[in-house]
Amino acid sequence: MAKNIIVSNRLPVQAKKEKADWSFTPTSGGLATGMKSFHQEGESLWVGWPGVSSDILDDSSKKQIHEDLEKTQYWPVFLNEEELDHFYFGFSNKCLWPLFHYFIEFHQFDTHQWEYYIQVNQKFADEVLNVIEDGDKVWIHDYQLMLCPQMIKDIMPDVTVGFFLHIPFPSFEIFRIFPERERLLNGLLGADLIGFHTYDYERHFLSSVKRILNLEVNFNIILHQGREIVVNTFPMGIDYKKFEISALESVKKDDSKISELKKQINTHKLENKGKLILSIDRLDYTKGVVNRLLAFERFLDTYPQYRDKIRLVMLAVPSRSKVAQYKKLKRQTDEVVGRINGKFASVNWTPVWYYYRSMDFENLIDLYVSSDVAMITPLRDGMNLVAKEYLATRINNDGVLILSELAGSSKELPQALLVNPFDIEQLSESIKIAIEMPLKEQKERNILLRKRIRRYDINKWSSSFMKALNDSSNKEYSSQVKLIDKSIANKISKTYKESRNKLLLLDYDGTMVGFQENPNKAIPPKDLLELIKKLTKKEDTDLVIISGRPYEFLEKYFTHLNITLVAEHGVFTKFKQNKWEHKKSISEDWKEHLIPILDTFTDNTPGTFIEQKTSSVAWHYRKADPELGTKRSVELKTVLTSLLPNGLTLLDGNKVLELVPANINKGVVALDLLNSKDYDFILVAGDDVTDENMFLNMPEKAFSIKVGKKKTAAKYFIRKYTQLLALLNNLN
Ligand code: UDP
Ligand code: G6P
Repeated sequence: MAKNIIVSNRLPVQAKKEKADWSFTPTSGGLATGMKSFHQEGESLWVGWPGVSSDILDDSSKKQIHEDLEKTQYWPVFLNEEELDHFYFGFSNKCLWPLFHYFIEFHQFDTHQWEYYIQVNQKFADEVLNVIEDGDKVWIHDYQLMLCPQMIKDIMPDVTVGFFLHIPFPSFEIFRIFPERERLLNGLLGADLIGFHTYDYERHFLSSVKRILNLEVNFNIILHQGREIVVNTFPMGIDYKKFEISALESVKKDDSKISELKKQINTHKLENKGKLILSIDRLDYTKGVVNRLLAFERFLDTYPQYRDKIRLVMLAVPSRSKVAQYKKLKRQTDEVVGRINGKFASVNWTPVWYYYRSMDFENLIDLYVSSDVAMITPLRDGMNLVAKEYLATRINNDGVLILSELAGSSKELPQALLVNPFDIEQLSESIKIAIEMPLKEQKERNILLRKRIRRYDINKWSSSFMKALNDSSNKEYSSQVKLIDKSIANKISKTYKESRNKLLLLDYDGTMVGFQENPNKAIPPKDLLELIKKLTKKEDTDLVIISGRPYEFLEKYFTHLNITLVAEHGVFTKFKQNKWEHKKSISEDWKEHLIPILDTFTDNTPGTFIEQKTSSVAWHYRKADPELGTKRSVELKTVLTSLLPNGLTLLDGNKVLELVPANINKGVVALDLLNSKDYDFILVAGDDVTDENMFLNMPEKAFSIKVGKKKTAAKYFIRKYTQLLALLNNLN
């Protein structure tokens, strides 16, 4: 039976040696908690690191860990000390983590560590390729493995790969700082579906794809090497029922069965008659722990009536403690907690209960159900599940959630007390508002909040992702346009060989050469000229370059060859060694009315420019900011369409709008050429909207080929222009 292969850096369990044997303890973190439920539900294998350095494992330990993990469908990827230092602590957590969380000052890019990042990503990809079977789908997780999707796709192009990022994707202005930005984005684009927690992260990612890779993006679909990559938002939920049921059980427990922690909490409630504020996080600088403590200190300074009553229970789970910034944070947190407790403590009361460890599920539930307020105020957080878990345990709908507006979960939880975690004054005031909030208001807010997290729980999250992943994988195969594979390429070659009169109609930019920054300065590559010479050596092949370029360009570089040239979409034609023919249609008065409009748009849109040809005028926006360029092109199109005189048409090309005489287009010229001889082999290729007229006018027997997978009337598509050149090279 086909399975889902989950791939994440860390497995949700960590191997630990107890006496002679290995045992496993749960690991903390949102990814682990969330995916654990998905893994338990269905047929899946989870590939990941078991949490210990392989340098301390002999062969028999490795074997034992492997066998034990396999019993619960886990598959270990062993990492040695060096890999952990450079890939995990180093590149993942000293470079990517701070950068993606907007802590630019903490981020360090190190080429040596980057090499390890590539190497370890390859190790994970190889491990997946080892265990994958027919029909399996792969779901890769998080920033540690962003190169993995492409590494898998390179070897198995037909396998369906999903990727989910559990942390924020930063704005383009932050992401552009990263030296290997192209590699990282290309790594991700190996996936068929890429998921984020919030729309903002999705938007930032698409903006980087457009700006850095210059790829075409239609709404949330990226067109890349003939594939459609779907990008979407899937806010991660929690196992709501599990938390709610555990909370119900926890409050029902009689005194003899309650935990030590619960006893302490009960004593506090009895003695201090005050409320408890809860804070739970991995000890990470993104979580805003110090700001939270400073706000609590200010609250006690400003409102002395609450001293001896309110207590902050702070659970800080040790995390990545080998990294300098985390060590520093630990010192800082210890200091601030010490200072607050020293400053305010009395005989019966310490303001902050500070736990630096992880807690088991039962204790976690005890904390949730006993706390009147949860203060979750990260400086930046992909989602934050603790906030949702707290709400799920509020079985009576009481309690107040103070939530940072910079946590992904704030988008779904607008009825929480939303705060700016950098504003200590506001944070401190929010504590007062929370502990004084009337029960009625608490309930009103929580009913709405809990409804949301009950409905969009972890099952809904994973099933929507998997459904989207299935849909995305079906997309390519259901398409009418066929990818040119080996057998179609052979068929083209064979037909060519067997035919007597052959016609090759080839667009130039994007079809025979890649797109150029400065088209008029770029000289056609030597091997392209050689290819044309080779194809036209025999008299039986007519080759036509059919382009939107001005005739001067084609004249300069191609007249010495024995081929037909068509310029400005058909305004000029030169049959082999004959003279240029100029097809005139309408008077050119329109230019004096419409060019000033193009001038205005050019002035207002940096990077755009006007190209004046003999009978047409083009407005190019390829070099403009992609979003602004597209927006302005839509506006300009609306303005021009309303002003078009009879006989003039507007072509909406690849990053270009072009005003051309209406009865002239590549389709009309292509038809004239087709009818000039009795061709028994016809191949027509193009990449742009303006080439569609050619495809539409082709007879059934023609091989019409679109370069790049876009909407088209062509019969076939090929992913890159270089592959088309290779196909042409094989014709003989
Ligand atoms: N958690 C845990 N043990 C603890 C404290 C917390 O397993 O001692 C869990 C908590 O229940 C939550 C996860 O760790 O599910 C933290 O996820 P979150 O999204 O809030 O933050 P992350 O650690 O992923 O940044
Ligand atoms: C966050 C990350 C996860 C990571 C977890 C714990 O949730 O998104 O990828 O597993 O923190 O961090 P650790 O470095 O201990 O795996």
